[in-house]
Amino acid sequence: MIKAILAIAVGVLLAAPAFAGDVPASNKSIKHGAFLVNYGGCQDCHTPGWAENGGQAPKDVLLTGGGTNFQGPWGTTYAPNLRLLVQKLTAKEWVAKLRSLKSRPAMPWWTFRYLSDKDLTDMYAYIHGLGPAGKPAHDWVAPGQEAPPPYLKLVLPPPPAVVNAGRH
Ligand code: HEC
Repeated sequence: MIKAILAIAVGVLLAAPAFAGDVPASNKSIKHGAFLVNYGGCQDCHTPGWAENGGQAPKDVLLTGGGTNFQGPWGTTYAPNLRLLVQKLTAKEWVAKLRSLKSRPAMPWWTFRYLSDKDLTDMYAYIHGLGPAGKPAHDWVAPGQEAPPPYLKLVLPPPPAVVNAGRH
């Protein structure tokens, strides 16, 4: 009996992906991270074919970048490959990156304000646990320069003035 419990405990420990220099992620963290990533809409832009397939993609395609890209006055932006990105970062570096992130459109970088460091670490646990896959997305292309498709071309009116800039 004790042997069986030990075997399960070791199995669980081995199943949890190891973080570079961090404590291994629990399955609870990974599950919560998957919830945040999916409900937070990250796949909408960072997963090719996600929207076209009604919010589904094979595991080896999830978050590999270049899904939905955007062209506007800022040039052309390509949603980066998050699976390759997390391989280069520790969980702490990921949290620091998201806390200071100010991307070009259409990345909604301000939404991370509403998440705790634990939430951001759980997101990392999920994305890191998927493992590396895909190729890096195309780099940002400056305005007026030719950019490879696919991208959504946006023609925007000036934004309304901000009256109450507090959190809602
Ligand atoms: C509406 C589309 C869209 C959504 C939704 C979106 N992203 Fe992005 N994301 C982008 C684009 C486009 C860029 C590249 C912006 C640039 O080039 O400046 C980007 C950039 C990033 C970067 C910066 C990567 C780097 O190497 O600097 C991170 C990290 C990121 N996104 C994470 C997320 C996470 C996590 C979510 C979900 C909470 C998310 N994104 C949701 C489109 C999106």
